[in-house]
Amino acid sequence: LDLLNIKVAIDGPAGAGKSTVAKELAKKLNFTYIDTGAMYRALTYKAIIENINVENRNKIVELASKIDIELKNDKVLLDGIDVTNEIRTPSISEKVSYISMIPEVREIMVKLQKRLSDKGSVVMDGRDIATVVMPDAQFKFFLTASPEVRAMRRYNELTSKKIPVKYDDILNDIRKRDKNDTERDVAPLKKADDSIVIDTTNMSIDEVVSKMYNIIANG
Ligand code: DC
Repeated sequence: LDLLNIKVAIDGPAGAGKSTVAKELAKKLNFTYIDTGAMYRALTYKAIIENINVENRNKIVELASKIDIELKNDKVLLDGIDVTNEIRTPSISEKVSYISMIPEVREIMVKLQKRLSDKGSVVMDGRDIATVVMPDAQFKFFLTASPEVRAMRRYNELTSKKIPVKYDDILNDIRKRDKNDTERDVAPLKKADDSIVIDTTNMSIDEVVSKMYNIIANG
């Protein structure tokens, strides 16, 4: 095992707890955390502020080829400006799926992500990390949870931000998104053959992080 260049890949559907767990795990291991969803979100944000329709593929690909995204201590910098909070709004969440479906955009993002993964030990989370971005990762995890629990986590997250939502709407949305994500032609969400599945339905964040940490420490 190359102790200076350990790669940990974390994939799974929205709401499985990936980003919270990945961030905690990276801190515990003293590895760099790379949030690939934030990169697709930053591109979406840039398209919106530049008034480019997210369905205009040529323009989006052109934008992606010139984009300057930096991930620095939990902050997301777009062209040097901190957009960490701006990229988490519901309007970005809604539009980002158009952009992440464009094959040329994925190619550009994957290239960037591969480059970031070569700079030392990393924990990277997303949808295609174990399968496409870091197929050579020493540790691969696939986090899942029941749709009901994922909907409840999302419901709690939004209501805590005072965003009014209905639980049933969120659950329906998650079911629809799962279907889209797994059945779409471009980069469908798929577990790598050699990923370790962790069902987080009845686990706390700490329990998930400990479980992963122990696997890595003993690996
Ligand atoms: O994990 P997230 O919600 O921040 O991801 C934002 C969007 O980007 C979501 O629609 C899935 C997509 N995504 C992707 O297609 N590939 C990745 N590696 C990461 C995210």
